Amino acid sequence: MASTTAPSELDARPFSKVLRESTRAVHEKANHSTYMDALLGGELQLADYTRLAVQYYFIYRTIEQVSDRMTGDEVGSRFVFDELRRLPSLRRDLAYLVGADWESAIEPLPATMAYCQRIREVSAEWAGGYVAHHYTRYLGDIAGGQIIRRLLENTYGVQGPGTLFYHFDRLDSAPAFRDRYRARLDAAPWSEAERERVVAETLIAFECNVAVFDELDAEIGERTHP
Ligand code: HEM
Repeated sequence: MASTTAPSELDARPFSKVLRESTRAVHEKANHSTYMDALLGGELQLADYTRLAVQYYFIYRTIEQVSDRMTGDEVGSRFVFDELRRLPSLRRDLAYLVGADWESAIEPLPATMAYCQRIREVSAEWAGGYVAHHYTRYLGDIAGGQIIRRLLENTYGVQGPGTLFYHFDRLDSAPAFRDRYRARLDAAPWSEAERERVVAETLIAFECNVAVFDELDAEIGERTHP
């Protein structure tokens, strides 16, 4: 029987486009959080960036542990890319930024712990949740992250170790990879309802990042205005 319901606007657009457009406002919020504005404005010290790299270590350790579990999942496995893995780079960055004993010296912020718990919980029962968190971090690192790489190099004088997190040497071409990634988002066999759920979880993923930035900002505030 022919449906009398016109396809919604969400139906008509490729899902990658829906996701990008749906997260535009929260992307602005994240990238203009007080912490990010101060970092990009060159107003912080390298130690303040190190605190972010520490949070990334816990966040990527969690996402990449989930990636390992997704290899057998019909949908999740389409979003497992060994060439993206950030943990090896983060380990080398932290050895440089924190020191040889970095592993015993670092702890996650409460917002980071909550973020990691969210990733674990939502991915445990649903590959779409994993994809939402994966998309939010890795596509952001490949694009906007390159601005932070240049900042570290030009403003803080850090080259190589300390910036490796932003080196995607195993990608032949970042734009080509992004296109390939978007094609996978478009082709994932999600119903309209599940797509909406992926969008909703992606918004949560962005908010988790904002919460981490806010705690980093509060830490800096305590140091500069005790
Ligand atoms: C440092 C501040 C940031 C800057 C300057 C920045 C800048 C950018 C730029 C220029 C793009 C490319 C847009 C396009 O291809 O149309 C992008 C994409 C993206 N950014 Fe950011 N960004 C920042 C922070 C963030 C943060 C904090 C997140 C989330 C944690 C994030 C997540 C994303 C995502 C997921 C995309 C891919 C959008 C898509 O193509 O679907 N960005 N960003």
